[in-house]
Amino acid sequence: MSTTKGLEGVVATTSSVSSIIDGVLTYHGYDIDDLADHASFEEVIFLLWNHRLPSQEELQSFQSELANAAVVSKEVLDQMKTFPIDKVHPMAALRTAVSNLALFDESADDMSEEANRQKALKLQAKMPTLVTAFSRIRQGKEPVEPRIDLSFAANFLYMLTGEEPDEISEKAFNKALVLHADHELNASTFTARVCVATLSDMYSGITAAIGALKGPLHGGANERVIKMLSEIDDVEKAEQYIKDALERKVKIMGFGHRVYKNGDPRAKHLKEMSRQLTSITGESKWYEMSVKIDEVVTNEKGLLPNVDFYSASVYHSLNIEHDLFTPIFAVSRVSGWIAHILEQYENNRLIRPRAEYTGPERQSWVPLEQR
Ligand code: ACO
Repeated sequence: MSTTKGLEGVVATTSSVSSIIDGVLTYHGYDIDDLADHASFEEVIFLLWNHRLPSQEELQSFQSELANAAVVSKEVLDQMKTFPIDKVHPMAALRTAVSNLALFDESADDMSEEANRQKALKLQAKMPTLVTAFSRIRQGKEPVEPRIDLSFAANFLYMLTGEEPDEISEKAFNKALVLHADHELNASTFTARVCVATLSDMYSGITAAIGALKGPLHGGANERVIKMLSEIDDVEKAEQYIKDALERKVKIMGFGHRVYKNGDPRAKHLKEMSRQLTSITGESKWYEMSVKIDEVVTNEKGLLPNVDFYSASVYHSLNIEHDLFTPIFAVSRVSGWIAHILEQYENNRLIRPRAEYTGPERQSWVPLEQR
């Protein structure tokens, strides 16, 4: 048996949801560059779940289905109020809250295609409500009810603050959601597929995926990036900070990628958004520091920024609390997780690889009193 650490380069399944070929990312064949420039997040969700773009009518009805499914029941919100909210990370709260949704959904274990499509809609629609409700509850405020007349992106920002976002913020947030929606067999998507390949339910698959996304080597990196930028806090100090960190063999969050070795195609969009938004807020230091760090890491290590690097200064410019950055990633990526879960159910086989045993062999049993 031969092993590949971290399953690098292993092709573990076929999928028609998204692809990374020669450094180009597509969602069902549509280049991420086109989608980032033109698509609404709702169109992207429809594409990922139905393998085609919606017509105008279909999009309208899908948007209204999503908006109508966004309300979270009082039971689930009340339960959230019992979390140790001042101590718990919002990603941990989201993981538990999504699992709680299943307890109040009678169709949670109904594996029919119709029930799974309904669960998909509920999960996608309610995750923003859960994330924003948690943010408000811990500030001692009441959650804001979702509105049916707002886009997915605008609704998130509205539920966070209670105020309708301006057009620039809505567009920027929509683009960030589009860019994070799916990414082939990344760690959290693989987790979701492994979970549901046992024929476990969709809520379990999404709960497991949230757990995988939370880690700093995956979605958790974006929060670490803003922490690093806040620590540096001065463009002049950025170069030395990074050189010192590299000297100490510290990983610079937001750089490197398992698949892309010539750059993450999503990063350039986020970089440009960071430039624009930080100039609007009058805080271009976040962008300038990021560019400086980018230069130093590229020169010193030959590593390029991934999706998590410039998204940090983008979300900061949208006035979003730093520990909500990874939950926002989940609010977008759940669309891809669901697409992969539906695909897994359609053509399922249990995912059960092997391990190469490296422990001792043929040991003799020693009775307890003789140990
Ligand atoms: N900073 C410094 N050195 C790095 C970095 C980094 N960000 N990333 C990789 N390296 C170095 C490693 O130390 C290693 O060096 P060595 O061979 O001298 O030991 C070499 O590059 C290979 O790194 P691995 O960690 O083995 O590469 P792998 O493909 O396993 O990891 C990963 C990819 C996890 C993304 C890695 O680059 C990393 O930890 N980056 C920082 C965390 C991050 O930004 N995660 C988000 C990824 S995108 C996403 O999930 C949405």
